[in-house]
Amino acid sequence: VSSFQQLYYRLYELIHEEYKKHLQKNSIAVEYLQKRSFTAEEILKYEFGFSPLNSKIPQKVAENLGIKILKKFGFSTKDLFEGRLIIPIKDENGRIIAFGGRLLGEGQPKYLNSFETDFFKKSKTLFLLDRAKDQIKIADFAIICEGYFDALAFHRADITNAVATLGTAFTKFHAFKLKKITSNVVLSFDTDAAGLKAALQSIKILVLMGFNVMVANKSAEKDPDEIYRTNGKEGLYNFIKEAIPAEKFIPIALSKKYNFENPNAIQLFLKEIKNWENLFKNFPKRLEIFQSVVKEISGSSLSTTKIVKKSNFSLD
Ligand code: GTP
Ligand code: MN
Ligand code: MN
Ligand code: MN
Ligand code: MN
Repeated sequence: VSSFQQLYYRLYELIHEEYKKHLQKNSIAVEYLQKRSFTAEEILKYEFGFSPLNSKIPQKVAENLGIKILKKFGFSTKDLFEGRLIIPIKDENGRIIAFGGRLLGEGQPKYLNSFETDFFKKSKTLFLLDRAKDQIKIADFAIICEGYFDALAFHRADITNAVATLGTAFTKFHAFKLKKITSNVVLSFDTDAAGLKAALQSIKILVLMGFNVMVANKSAEKDPDEIYRTNGKEGLYNFIKEAIPAEKFIPIALSKKYNFENPNAIQLFLKEIKNWENLFKNFPKRLEIFQSVVKEISGSSLSTTKIVKKSNFSLD
């Protein structure tokens, strides 16, 4: 670690300390977290902060590091995160590399992240990996969520092998990181259309990299954070327990777009699903399950379907 990098970590740590102090002074920000059912203890444990209105970079920090460096990192004299709840984003070693900032109310953009730097790339960062990595090894699987508060909900429910992407797609870089500690994942994305799309995209990457992929998708709530707030720990346990393997999830998820009363729809469905078949070609057991679910859903067999487009799954 270069001395420049040390300085960078120190900068974020100092700013974080300021944000944490401001949170304790701001009743609206604390009430926001209480509304999301965080206890005082949890607020400290997860190290939330608050960026006050008209905030300036703390004088002490500016003196220590020089405003030029602050500018480079996206902290001009006016803070990007003004009026937002601060969520520290750490690398897997627990060093703060960025912040997430959430509006306390409605509005756009709901979240902001620190600008990317040499040490912070969204496509390589998994939120809470520092807290999750030991349990991922022990449980030998990782739960992947799409939102900060979703990963936090799992941790609050003592399911501490959960991480989240930072609002960007799950990438092969995320997968490389996880592959060092486990080959099993449970996708726990939002249950809406966007979450479904994200799950399908992630499955491609993960299966190609040799992961066993399960998908949790069965809930009336829209994301794990809401499951936790509505049904508590048990709700999240059940959500994960009811996860199904990707080779079942894909045909079931894709079939929802089609109305099979229309005979044409079956052909369209089979055409779309055929593109996914190759993904499991090196896994005979999974392929068999995939094909049997397709058959069960559509009443037709994939092998009899003539396919126009041959898909190539690759990691580029
Ligand atoms: P809450 O409303 O706080 O529970 O957020 P959420 O996590 O449920 O939000 P959503 O499902 O809309 O988005 C999932 C993740 O995408 C968030 O946790 C953020 O990381 C990211 N995200 C959402 N909205 C924005 C945005 O406006 N800008 C950016 N940069 N990221 C966003
Ligand atoms: Mn700190
Ligand atoms: Mn969403
Ligand atoms: Mn969500
Ligand atoms: Mn949410």
